[in-house]
Amino acid sequence: MKHALITGGAGFIGSHLAEALIARDYRVTVIDDESTGTAENLAGVRDHFNFSFVHGTAADKGLMRSLVADVDEVYHLAAAVGVQLISTAPIHTIETNIYPTELVLSELLRRKRDGYAVKLFLASSSEVYGKNPKPIWAEDADIVLGPTTRTRWSYGASKAIDEFLALAYWRQHRLPVVIGRFFNVVGPRQTGHYGMVLPRFVEAALAGRSLIVHDDGHQVRCFAHVTDIVNSVIALMETETAVAGVYNIGSDQPVSILQLAKHVIEAVNPKLEVQFQSYAEAYDADFEDVRSRIPDLSKLRRTIAYRPQFDLEATIRDVLETTRARQRR
Ligand SMILES: NC(=O)c1ccc[n+]([C@@H]2O[C@H](COP(=O)([O-])OP(=O)(O)OC[C@H]3O[C@@H](n4cnc5c(N)ncnc54)[C@H](O)[C@@H]3O)[C@@H](O)[C@H]2O)c1
Repeated sequence: MKHALITGGAGFIGSHLAEALIARDYRVTVIDDESTGTAENLAGVRDHFNFSFVHGTAADKGLMRSLVADVDEVYHLAAAVGVQLISTAPIHTIETNIYPTELVLSELLRRKRDGYAVKLFLASSSEVYGKNPKPIWAEDADIVLGPTTRTRWSYGASKAIDEFLALAYWRQHRLPVVIGRFFNVVGPRQTGHYGMVLPRFVEAALAGRSLIVHDDGHQVRCFAHVTDIVNSVIALMETETAVAGVYNIGSDQPVSILQLAKHVIEAVNPKLEVQFQSYAEAYDADFEDVRSRIPDLSKLRRTIAYRPQFDLEATIRDVLETTRARQRR
């Protein structure tokens, strides 16, 4: 039986990953400081005999050393996530996104030197592409970030450093790493507290409020259901040829944020309205957004059998149903 450690496993994606690995007969240990996630997200696996939860930080060297000592795979998802969090807590974002990655890699190197190669999945982000002007982003596209005076780019820069570091551990020490750049991931248990758009829209619509759309709403994104993302992550970790690769993971079906708002309104209550808000009001005066973010998934499709089960309509329906059910509890 394989033993996996998930950092950030009480978060949105991590908790779905924990469930999926338990369902595949893994032993799973989660470490999470519950800064944006919560142990409640793990209700579905909490009592399973193959599951354990450790409340703590992935920046704790002693704790990480003891957890890594006994695992076969690490899924490093712990991070400061969300554009809102980045603009309000930039020091926390940069430090959280870089130091624990460095720590995980150095602890895995110790294990490798002791004769055991633990495979690492590193959760990266489409933010790494920054504002690359190409309409569709393949993994070898340039990183085009804005100036360091604009806080929002620190998230993409910190994830890029994580990638550089993980690839350096592969090059210098043959530490097996797989890097996934998630595009917009949505689904049950994602919270709107940190500015994530679909849960924000769904929570507003269910409360009978107008949906707040930033700027003109013509920003284009691709939304993928978390189940499809988690299945891709596990498939990549099961594929030997995926090692040392960087993969876009997400949906490649574009939709504008205004269209997304209209889909939610249609599904909940056609009388609801959209209200536009400037970026300056939503974040800060120097906020800069990315107009369009569409992945090229051909590398993912060449490497694993990528067959998403959810289109946008089914994804919105699922988020609506699970949010309603949660609100009834
Ligand atoms: N959701 C998306 O659309 C998306 C897109 C791109 C990349 N990602 C990446 O996927 C990963 C998971 O994101 P998510 O959407 O599930 O966000 P999330 O906030 O729900 O999950 C992150 C988890 O990490 C935990 N955490 C933060 N700092 C920690 C620390 N120092 N030690 C231990 N735990 C810590 C949080 O409490 C939380 O449970 C992140 O690395 C994120 O950058 C997500």
